[in-house]
Amino acid sequence: MSTQRNILITGGAGFIGSHVVRRFVTKYPGYRIINLDALTYAGNMENLRDVEKASNYVFLKADIREAEAMNKVFTEHDIDAVIHLAAESHVDRSISDPMSFVTTNVVGTVNLLNAARVAWKGGYDGKRFYHVSTDEVYGSLHDDSLFLETTPYDPQSPYSASKAASDHFVRAYGNTYKLPFVITNCSNNYGSHQFPEKLIPLMINNIRNSKPLPVYGKGENVRDWLWVEDHAAAIDEVFHRGVNGETYNIGGHNEWKNIDLVHLLCGIMDRKLGRAEGESAKLITYVTDRAGHDLRYAIDAGKVERELGWRPSITFEQGLERTVDWYLANPDWMEHVTSGAYRDYYDAQYAAR
Ligand code: NAD
Ligand code: TYD
Repeated sequence: MSTQRNILITGGAGFIGSHVVRRFVTKYPGYRIINLDALTYAGNMENLRDVEKASNYVFLKADIREAEAMNKVFTEHDIDAVIHLAAESHVDRSISDPMSFVTTNVVGTVNLLNAARVAWKGGYDGKRFYHVSTDEVYGSLHDDSLFLETTPYDPQSPYSASKAASDHFVRAYGNTYKLPFVITNCSNNYGSHQFPEKLIPLMINNIRNSKPLPVYGKGENVRDWLWVEDHAAAIDEVFHRGVNGETYNIGGHNEWKNIDLVHLLCGIMDRKLGRAEGESAKLITYVTDRAGHDLRYAIDAGKVERELGWRPSITFEQGLERTVDWYLANPDWMEHVTSGAYRDYYDAQYAAR
């Protein structure tokens, strides 16, 4: 893949995308990184302040739902490879507005696939379409098994259904048009710059502000948490050394019941904020469960470990410490993203629970 130079990263202003962009811009000065993002509520230019002036970095404000705009990007920037992360990514929002997930996650992905196919019609040598997906496509586990790359798809939410559909389209283009692709399905990420609609930054923000901590249902649901920079490292490995047509599961071997995780965070925050032990946990409030709430996700990441040598680089305790420290050191970031529309979202999601 050494001949690749112009790399389109979609969704680079979002949580995971910003970590991938930062890694690629700083580690690969020979690559020109084109970050394409529509800057929805989840995209934030502040996430990339430290790299935005780099000479090998370009930002394009564009919407993957617009087919013509995508074709233009491929021709104008002579795109060699795509790392596709742009998506609507929050399950709760997919329950209240499923159609946005169809248009961005499904139609947007197909627009990119079409643009790649047309732009690369002269030959696929050195080309690659990397689709970033989720473990949620495999559905909900009700025993102690793990998701493998061969686990049948069984999406249960509008979000996971839309991601599953996009994965199917990527594989279909690989089969039908021989488009060179790789797909990764990753477990829940956590770390800096995550929008506080997701569990960990939402809880950190509410603990800090002594607001109720809304735990859905009984808090028994299990997620497998991975530090976002370890996900970015895995994407780097798969992008450069993954085999075309293959899927790799990525996960942290790190399962937590939501309620245990919230207690762990409360303990860390008590310590960092100088509160008495047990103080923050008093904020825990059980609220109405999410509709169709998947019980458990857990990844078997054995393939990417064996074949590409990737492994998480830090423990969950280290990752959470770093994450909490980042949010506490960046109150302005939190203030900016939680002003305005966030308040309306929060009221609509949580007032009724
Ligand atoms: P995010 O919501 O933080 O960021 C998504 C980005 O995509 C934002 O910058 C947004 O502006 C952009 N975007 C949304 N719609 C767009 C459109 N129509 N055109 C162009 N840009 C658009 O999401 P994230 O958590 O960083 O997730 C990134 C990818 O990784 C997604 O594909 C998601 O499904 C996948 N993923 C996420 C997790 C996780 O735990 N967050 C786990 C596994 C996989
Ligand atoms: P989330 O971060 O939305 O990720 P996903 O649903 O994609 O796994 O939620 C993680 C878990 O935390 C999930 O089981 C739902 C639960 N949850 C709460 O209990 N309270 C909350 O306020 C949120 C946002 C999530």
